[in-house]
Amino acid sequence: MKSYPHSAEFAAKANTTPQKYAETYQESVENNEAFWAKRAEWIDWIKKPTKIKNVNYDLNNFSIKWFEDGELNLSVNCLDRHVAENPYKPAIIWEGDHPSLHKIISYKELHSEVCRLGSALRRKGVKKGDRVTIYLPMIPEAAVAMLACARIGAVHSLVFGGFSTDSLASRIIDSQSKIVITADESVRGGKHTPLKQNVDRALDHDGTECVEKVIVVYRTGESIPMSGRRDIWYHNLIDNASEDCPPEPMNAEDPLFLLYTSGSTGKPKGVVHTTGGYLTYALSTFRDVFDIKDNDVFWCTADVGWVTGHTYVVYGPLANGTTTVMFEGVPQYPDWARIGHIVDKHDVTILYTAPTAIRAMMKEGDDYVRKSNRSSLRLLGSVGEPINPEAWNWYYNVVGEGRCPIVDTWWQTETGGILMTPIPNTVDLKPGSAMNPLYGVMPAIVDAEGAELTGAAEGNLIIKDSWPGQMRTIWGDHKRFLETYFSTYPGAYFTGDGALRDEDGHYWITGRVDDVLNVSGHRLGTAEIESALVSHPSVAEAAIVGMPHELKGQGVAAYVILKSGEEPSEMLKGEINRHVRGEIGPIANLDSLYLVEALPKTRSGKIMRRILRKLAAHEFEGLGDTSTLAEPEVVDNLINVVKADK
Ligand code: PRX
Repeated sequence: MKSYPHSAEFAAKANTTPQKYAETYQESVENNEAFWAKRAEWIDWIKKPTKIKNVNYDLNNFSIKWFEDGELNLSVNCLDRHVAENPYKPAIIWEGDHPSLHKIISYKELHSEVCRLGSALRRKGVKKGDRVTIYLPMIPEAAVAMLACARIGAVHSLVFGGFSTDSLASRIIDSQSKIVITADESVRGGKHTPLKQNVDRALDHDGTECVEKVIVVYRTGESIPMSGRRDIWYHNLIDNASEDCPPEPMNAEDPLFLLYTSGSTGKPKGVVHTTGGYLTYALSTFRDVFDIKDNDVFWCTADVGWVTGHTYVVYGPLANGTTTVMFEGVPQYPDWARIGHIVDKHDVTILYTAPTAIRAMMKEGDDYVRKSNRSSLRLLGSVGEPINPEAWNWYYNVVGEGRCPIVDTWWQTETGGILMTPIPNTVDLKPGSAMNPLYGVMPAIVDAEGAELTGAAEGNLIIKDSWPGQMRTIWGDHKRFLETYFSTYPGAYFTGDGALRDEDGHYWITGRVDDVLNVSGHRLGTAEIESALVSHPSVAEAAIVGMPHELKGQGVAAYVILKSGEEPSEMLKGEINRHVRGEIGPIANLDSLYLVEALPKTRSGKIMRRILRKLAAHEFEGLGDTSTLAEPEVVDNLINVVKADK
């Protein structure tokens, strides 16, 4: 397999070398605690931690604590210390949906706005530990809101603007948020979405009485109803607010944020990240993985509603005093040349995006990309899903013109930051491989019984020891946390991913081994979509599986049994799909919807998803042993329905 060395020019300026990586990695696993103690010195503490690591994965004596007697404030680390050193450095470069709109916000300006919002929230009675739901588009106010919460010790919970009213309501209820911060509308690709209206509808749900105030950012000026006692305009709130907002001293283990993500069962779970460990990890991985220099302009295209947006749009860059780009729009608006144009307009040096976006741009042809010169770029990154070698090569050769290394970064909402990637200038790159663990990260591959496999091997991926950015619990459900991540392979964190280690010891993520789908880099639980399906009045039963999809990586295939008396029709299929999108959000679009007579079940009633997956991929041969099915003839009907579907 062809591998790609770093150019002499890149290597000459890189922050590290293969030898330094090997030594530091070795040191970080042999003396893990000492390594993280040193990394924690990159943070400004109010009270320096004396206890570094207190981790025990034994379920009877379980503990994950990092820097447990340390005290800090995260916003001080992202703002005040940079204001003191370099107040006019751009903190955020905001690029609006329309190419005529952009805004540059210095560290000083960002600090001032964060403090004003922090003071205003305090005046509204928000205290340390209270939850605040943030349902905003990619506008600077999203970062301001996150940092203002961090400043006063409130716990933020971002909800992606593409989620439906129901999804928003269930997240508000689960977190029992006191405040919701939203905008009149969002704008993406010229299309407006009524965020405030979605909030109003969400707050009609029982259980949302916890919400006392809704703060509304004026984004488009669309006229929206404001309810007198509950709703407040963001600009009115901060105009009169004091810039004097003393940072709340937080214990390192105090929660910083909740972020809901899909699991293989049940409802989305609120992943809890804490202050000290998360910040140390965000700060240090950002610096290591992106080979950060003072004058970098870093652009991560992820939405702040996902973990990538938390760690690598907001916290990682700002903790390092780096300039971060926030883009409100989409790669195809006004046309597919937009990404390159933004790179040129703001002299972006590092571009971090998802394989889905790369594949979509690749499909539109090289000419769009070539409309920009991209000479400012020196490093590229990929995140969220496996990158196929074809997309990797295109990203490398066309976008980066063979000059920029690619960091393929593997991690999860649960991990807080990147766990595996080829740190620049430490190893020749193999397209599609996340290559090596980061410092302090101890991956292993195990078989189904949990026996560790050595050498070249394929199996399930576990992480043997903790790292500071690890999630600490599921909000309100610690038992589910322990069961999901620590009971499958006792004594280790189970990632839910499969991986292969090649003869050189490099890791290749093979995808989820549980019932979680990864659609365009977004996580969706099959159980979650199934429950949305069966809530449609015509649906009796449903099963969801992933299917290969050229652009999205993975698409959603639904097998649905209608209630008796319901007539199958294209119209009904359209209606069912709209229903699911309405329940969860447009990201849950059903790419294939098969109305079938029965599902393939074993005699004990378990759905044989293996068969459904094969058929959804249009693999009709070699369906494997179907003799354990309660009714093997069911498969013939499934094959007919799938084949008949256009
Ligand atoms: O299956 C892995 C895949 O995305 C999952 C995590 O999704 P989420 O929590 O939404 O976080 C996405 C952003 C980090 C993982 O379990 N995944 C993520 N990055 C990669 C990846 N699969 C392969 N290669 C990657 N670089």
